Order: sequence, then structure tokens, then C-alpha cells
Amino acid sequence: MKEQTVYLNGQFVPKSAASISPMDRGFLFGDGIYEVIPCHNRRPIALERHLDRLIRNLDAINLHCGERDQWRSVILELISTSPWDHCGVYFHVSRGVAERRHHTFTSALTPTVFAYSFDIPAPRSSANPPEQGLKLKSQEDLRWQHCDIKVTALLGNVLHYQAAVAEGFDEALLYRHDGVLTEAAASNVFVVAGKQVMTPRLNQHLLPGITRGLVLDILRMSNEFEVVERDLRLSDCFEADEVWLSSSTREIAPVAMIDDRLIGPSKKSVWARAIDLFQRHKFEFE
Ligand code: PDD
Repeated sequence: MKEQTVYLNGQFVPKSAASISPMDRGFLFGDGIYEVIPCHNRRPIALERHLDRLIRNLDAINLHCGERDQWRSVILELISTSPWDHCGVYFHVSRGVAERRHHTFTSALTPTVFAYSFDIPAPRSSANPPEQGLKLKSQEDLRWQHCDIKVTALLGNVLHYQAAVAEGFDEALLYRHDGVLTEAAASNVFVVAGKQVMTPRLNQHLLPGITRGLVLDILRMSNEFEVVERDLRLSDCFEADEVWLSSSTREIAPVAMIDDRLIGPSKKSVWARAIDLFQRHKFEFE
């Protein structure tokens, strides 16, 4: 395969030629934010919503850099030149390179902008379900209090995810010390009971996932389900008919097990309807 082209600080360069200083605050402090934009058949999904979140997150960490139109064209260029028809675009902005390592920063730094595409699985449908549902390990959420910002400092998520995988699970399902569910280490969570599709309400303890938002909008539009955003507990998952994870790279993924307990009936009938509605409507949102 021809060497992949990536974007770094205003230029498209071969991946092996892209380099940054070890003094970059992204490297030293995890001081930056990122986005992952999914594309299927080279069409991005909800690109404007991803750009909205990118700009909101830049603002949230006081990092001012670039223009929305510029970021949009970088992302579109990476999609059109990607080696893969189904790809994610990783888009990363860090606060840039400082002379000295110091916790505080000034606005004089030039941010580092890096983006590249990577392959993601082809979309699922009711006719093409995953062979197995996901196995989740429940864990107390030990991350910080700003999980609503998509920061590159992902060590909390990394350690949760790694601990789950080390025990043979696919992902970690996180709840806070008060027992309230937040999300998974790299996905949002949905709980289905009858015709009710529920997901944790947004607050600073979970990421406002773009896929989460699309699922809510598409299911509400269908008028087939009662769609609810509220506090949920781990026990709601054990009593549920179905549990799903959602993310840009997974779309909607059914869960088969949490810890040592099987979730719901083996036929995921609500998932089947939801994924078909999702595939039919996912490109309709800007
Ligand atoms: N992760 N929650 C967390 C902690 C996440 O990292 C992600 C996505 C989501 C889902 O958000 P969205 O629907 O916008 O992808 C929820 C991405 C894919 C990642 O870090 O690679």
C-alpha cells in the first residue's frame, strides 16, 4: 500500500515525514482536544455537528485556532484521499510547543494541528448483525469531572478500557460512586426496556456523543419508541431487554453480557429496528 498522507500544521505530508517537537504540550500534558468523524462510502456523518463540538471544545479549554471552513476542507480532503471507503478522520489540536515545560500557558503559542484517516468497520444492519454482542466489565468511573470535553488526555479512559480487556471483556461500563451510569470508556450507553429507549442525561460526567445525538434524533423522528434521557443505574442494565453502546466507529453495537450476566433476550429486536432506521437516516443530518 502506498504510504498514507496525513495533515500536520497546514501541510499534507507522508505519514513518516510528519513529526512534532517533544516540547509540544499535547505530548507533555495531554493539553489538547480531538474529534473522530466517521465516513461511510466516503460520505461523512454529521460533519457539522462534529465541527460544532470541535469548536465548543477548543473554546472550553481556551484554545483559539483556525477556522471552521479550513478544518472542514482538511477533513474532506483526508476523506477523498483515504485508502479506505469506510474511515474515521482523527482531528487533533494541541496547545503547541513551548520553550519551557510549565503547567500554565499563554495565548502566544502556535497550536499543533494533526489529522489523518483510519479504517473503521463497514456498517451493520438487521440483515448483517454482529456475530456476538459486546461483553462489558462494570467499573466505578474514576475519571475527572470534565468528561463532557473531548480532551486528548485520555489516561483515565485508557486505564478503564485496558483493565476490562485484560480480563477478557470488550469494553468498560462506567458508573459513578453514587451508582449512576455515565458511559463506556470510548462509547455512550443505551438501555432498552420494552418500547422505552433510555440513555444517561448529559452532564459533565459523560461525552455528548454525536452518535448518541443521532440515535436520539432518529428514534424520536420515527415515533416508534419512547426516547428518554435520565439518570440510570447498573441495575437498570441488568433488568433491561437490551443494552447498546454507541460511537462514531461502532455506530450502535448490541451488548450481550455485563460482568457475568447475560443481558436481555438473545434476539435483539429493538436493536435491529434501530440500526435499520440509523442506516436509513444517518446521512440526513448536517
Ligand atoms: N470515542 N464517550 C467517550 C468517552 C468516547 O471516547 C466516545 C467516542 C463516545 C462516543 O462519541 P461519538 O458518538 O461522538 O463518537 C462517548 C471516539 C470514537 C474515540 O475516542 O476514538
